[in-house]
Amino acid sequence: MIKGFLFDLDGVIVDTAVFHFKAWRKLAQKLGGDFTAEQNEQLKGVSRVDSLKKVVAWTGATVDDLTFIELMEVKNEWYLELVIQLGPKDALPGALDFIRHAHAKGILIGLGSASKNAPMILNKLGLTALFTTIIDGNNVVNGKPHPEVFLKGADGLGLKPTECLVFEDSIAGVQAAKAGGFGCVGIGSAEVLKADVHFQALGSSTPEALVAQF
Ligand code: BG6
Ligand code: MG
Repeated sequence: MIKGFLFDLDGVIVDTAVFHFKAWRKLAQKLGGDFTAEQNEQLKGVSRVDSLKKVVAWTGATVDDLTFIELMEVKNEWYLELVIQLGPKDALPGALDFIRHAHAKGILIGLGSASKNAPMILNKLGLTALFTTIIDGNNVVNGKPHPEVFLKGADGLGLKPTECLVFEDSIAGVQAAKAGGFGCVGIGSAEVLKADVHFQALGSSTPEALVAQF
């Protein structure tokens, strides 16, 4: 019986995946390279440090340790410039209603995001009060595809993985959910994500339908 929902943030609740992509591309170009939207699928859900390792490898640049840390900060500053104006209007189609509805039905709500900016973004959306637990990039040692973020989320809800559903838009996140023994709802393409069920947005389904299905 499903009693809790664990949501990824970027690309599931809010359209911030596009801002991460823009900021990483700008950084790749600063390093004298570039990467495609297809390659970006490999960055979704991946921590800041692991993302930069991939971007540096794609550009072929050589970066010393101090510069590496500076580049992570530069990317984050660019990202923050893009999200400063963010508000409830930027939520993905149906996301706010879906989460409010699930909460009203007594389903426990948690966040499992790789982003250290997640609590700030959740606040901008006016959603923080609905979340029983918020696990973000500051609370984990192992990033997705490791299941730590979702296992801690389930723990925060006081539930077993089999009692929770994970909502993810990234390959790494779906792998993390599966590795943790969670049922997984993919937001995006079935071919890319390989989750258990797929929707284009949260608004394409209902909490009741998903609870009945799993
Ligand atoms: C994930 C995003 O949610 O968080 C990634 O999908 C991002 O694109 C990662 O790199 C880390 O985010 P932040 O805000 O801590 O740099
Ligand atoms: Mg995501």
